[in-house]
Amino acid sequence: MIVLGLETSCDETAAAVIKAEKNHISVLSNVVSSQVKLHAQWGGVVPNLAAREHLKNILPVIEESLIRAKINSQKIDLISVTQGPGLIPALLIGVSTAKTLSYLWKKPLIGIHHIEGHIYANFIDSPHPTLSLRRRGTKGEVKKMSFPVLCLVVSGGHTQLIFMKKHLDYKIIGETLDDAAGEAFDKVARILNLGYPGGPAISAQAEIAESRIMNYESKNKKGNKPIIHDSRFIIHLPRPMINSKNFNFSFSGLKTAVLYLAKKNKKRMKDKNFTAAVCREFQQAVIDVLIDKTITAALKYKPKTILLAGGVSANQELRKQLNRAIKNRLPYILYRMPNIKYCLDNASMIAVAGFYRREKLNDNWKNMEAFANLKLKKCSD
Ligand code: KG4
Ligand code: ZN
Repeated sequence: MIVLGLETSCDETAAAVIKAEKNHISVLSNVVSSQVKLHAQWGGVVPNLAAREHLKNILPVIEESLIRAKINSQKIDLISVTQGPGLIPALLIGVSTAKTLSYLWKKPLIGIHHIEGHIYANFIDSPHPTLSLRRRGTKGEVKKMSFPVLCLVVSGGHTQLIFMKKHLDYKIIGETLDDAAGEAFDKVARILNLGYPGGPAISAQAEIAESRIMNYESKNKKGNKPIIHDSRFIIHLPRPMINSKNFNFSFSGLKTAVLYLAKKNKKRMKDKNFTAAVCREFQQAVIDVLIDKTITAALKYKPKTILLAGGVSANQELRKQLNRAIKNRLPYILYRMPNIKYCLDNASMIAVAGFYRREKLNDNWKNMEAFANLKLKKCSD
């Protein structure tokens, strides 16, 4: 089956073509036109500007996806589009384009929840850190994903722990009570003047701080003249809700703690080493909470697989540390994370989710709407 995926929920105009069979998914094209530079000057996404850019780019992006996939519209079996949640002006461009193409090309249309897309990104060439090369299978092969699955979703708009007994069956067992993890990265980057989007900027600074510490430690180990470790850079931030008895998160207080730290240390904020150390500690605080809650949830819900999903899953430290924690504490559970190419918003993940949801096609597609606050649909809905 050939699926055309479309995604316009935020600031990426994306179209992708996949070829999907029961045990094999190949991405024939994955085109993303990013608006990051446009929104960076405003420090965040401006919904109406995003919609104008989507309007300008959507058809060229779709055309490019068909050219790269070397197919024409007749070959398409299904159109899959992000229906929500997201910015309404942005979503409307994708949904109305998808409806128009569906009408003109006489192709079935399916609406996908954006987070469902992120979860199903794990089905595209997902690296298997815990499996041997032989068991990883060949490129494109859909690897066995044993259910039940526990999924840690971390994006710009969502932070959730989702339990799945089977495909398309979602039970939210915990979520953020205020800011999402990615949102906290973006807000802290703004406080530290690191630009937008904040996640990649903060993780790059955290890496600089980390290498500074490693350098210090390795010099000391070699028996060189000891360097006095600069105690100004020993920073401690809170790990919000880490001891709470539920699986909810809260990142807004952590962001406020960084704000107070910055206000109290105005002079030191001009020192790049100081801001790098703040980034390292902030990132570690977020990672500690995410990992702690995921492991505790896994102990309670006993999944066979743990998945990572959403834009923050591009964070190398989170990928590495979650892998290490699962290996050490729950070695019998399989850990999967999306291929780095499909962590951020893209349309391949929407096409894959459309493929898995194809049997739930709604006859009433002509009435399909976009919803800013769409809830995750269960397979029985
Ligand atoms: O999933 P996504 O592309 O869009 C939403 O659905 O929200 O996620 C975007 C979020 C942004 O907040 C961005 O700062 C964050 O993901 N992000 C990262 C990294 N790359 C992107 N956060 C931490 N580390 C990263 N390397
Ligand atoms: Zn997303």
